[in-house]
Amino acid sequence: MKNILVAVTGGISAYKAVDVISALKKQGYHVSAMATDSALQFVSENVLKITADRYWKHSWDDPVHIRATEPDQVDVFVVIPATANIMAKIRWGIADDLVSSTVLALPKNTLKMMFCACNTRMWENEVVQGNFQELRLKQWRGLNPVSGMLACGTEGIGKLPPTKDIVECINKWIKAETDLQTVKGYEKNN
Ligand SMILES: Cc1cc2nc3c(=O)[nH]c(=O)nc-3n(C[C@H](O)[C@H](O)[C@H](O)COP(=O)(O)O)c2cc1C
Repeated sequence: MKNILVAVTGGISAYKAVDVISALKKQGYHVSAMATDSALQFVSENVLKITADRYWKHSWDDPVHIRATEPDQVDVFVVIPATANIMAKIRWGIADDLVSSTVLALPKNTLKMMFCACNTRMWENEVVQGNFQELRLKQWRGLNPVSGMLACGTEGIGKLPPTKDIVECINKWIKAETDLQTVKGYEKNN
């Protein structure tokens, strides 16, 4: 479990994905990155290119979502931050951009993780909650958003957890999956 692909989606906290990428690299992982168009409103593509070992960019003359998901390219797929929008798209199998197409092309045994962040009212919306719970059942791992002062100026749940907690959670699940794969006959359901 060495190759981590970080997909950045369009929340205000997208810039924090850079710290996570950097921390994961320091721990010896090979980290590649990709971003939605909305994410690039909040974090510079150049910073992602410079920080990650590899940056995947959408192209109409190259099926990047397939190349980025070859089994030798990705062991762990992490969406950070995950928007309410990407959760809905993943739940329903919508593939209308690089990140969502990549999700559908992930090899079966990929460890899938997401760290959501959004305004409290969005987070508490019943559709968003339904999508989140469904993705947990489909073995998407991660942490819930935390409480605090949000970028929109209100206090409440919806903040991205601290980088240290995110990295710790990723390490924990990588260890758990690695241990499970040593069990003879183990096969992942989703
Ligand atoms: C200033 C601003 C901040 C936003 N922050 C968030 C956010 O933190 N979380 C979220 O789910 N959506 C947020 N949105 C809405 C998303 O950017 C929007 O749903 C977008 O379509 C998401 O696209 P993506 O999922 O393809 O990245 C924000 C929008 C704006 C204008």
